[in-house]
Amino acid sequence: MSYYQALGLTKEPFSTSPDPAFFFRSSSHVQALTRLEIAIRLKRGLSLILGEVGTGKTTLARTLLGNFAQEDHVVFHIVLDPSYESEYQFLLGLTRMFGVKPAFKSTLDCREAIEHYLFQAGVTEGKTTVLVIDEGQKMTLEMLENLRVLLNYETNEYKLLQVVIFSQMELLPRIKRIKNFIDRVALKYIINPLDEQETSELIRFRLIQAGLPDGRQVFAPEAVRAIYHFTQGYPRKISMVCHNALEALVMHERQVIDEALIQELIRDESRWVQEHLA
Ligand SMILES: Nc1ncnc2c1ncn2[C@@H]1O[C@H](COP(=O)(O)OP(=O)(O)O)[C@@H](O)[C@H]1O
Ligand SMILES: [Mg+2]
Repeated sequence: MSYYQALGLTKEPFSTSPDPAFFFRSSSHVQALTRLEIAIRLKRGLSLILGEVGTGKTTLARTLLGNFAQEDHVVFHIVLDPSYESEYQFLLGLTRMFGVKPAFKSTLDCREAIEHYLFQAGVTEGKTTVLVIDEGQKMTLEMLENLRVLLNYETNEYKLLQVVIFSQMELLPRIKRIKNFIDRVALKYIINPLDEQETSELIRFRLIQAGLPDGRQVFAPEAVRAIYHFTQGYPRKISMVCHNALEALVMHERQVIDEALIQELIRDESRWVQEHLA
């Protein structure tokens, strides 16, 4: 029996996979999501969502896709990891995603095939093509330059390609090096970590999504406060601590996770880091 079943839960509450069902709508995440939806509907071109590791970028990307799932005229293409060997490979990858063939094996021909596709989809068929790029910090200067070219394809009213880049902060200096690039970003948004109240709400939300019986308290308020101070509100860290805490709870056959248990886990964690990573 899994540890979470021992707690009366039906699903794992603190898995680290980016499952939209466990997506807690914090103010920062809601803002990012709402503004992204608007940018896509208005076909404003490029949106850039920045955030440190574990702030929820990939989860947000999946949630965004889910929000458009019923709308056939909005077509998403996703690059989960833009580590291409060259700009040609990147463009070729895009032609494959769009299901088109370049006339010859050159960057120019790839761009032409993509442009043709975008006009066909956008103008003739009335579709919105959205390219979502996760792990945007892995994009090279050349790839960004190519994106800028693709973003130039437009009608009098709107951009033919919508691009949403999710990235760690380290992409910023690279973007700054491309002339006028930052001015073309229609939406720039930095995802902030959660505050203490939201940390508490996220924990509760995920437990309920996992099937926590009504009225059952698992984390004492002091434990939640300790989790907040340790994680500084970063969702991935919160998930990891909570997962370990639940495991410990089941192993020690206790009822409630208290502050002492959290402090013990934090001590173990720092000891491990000291021994293996310092
Ligand atoms: N808004 C949120 N609500 C609930 N869990 C979240 C939220 N944002 C992130 N998480 C959790 O944090 C972890 C890391 O999220 P992820 O989207 O992979 O972050 P990033 O892509 O920014 O590194 C995942 O386990 C995810 O479920
Ligand atoms: Mg991610």
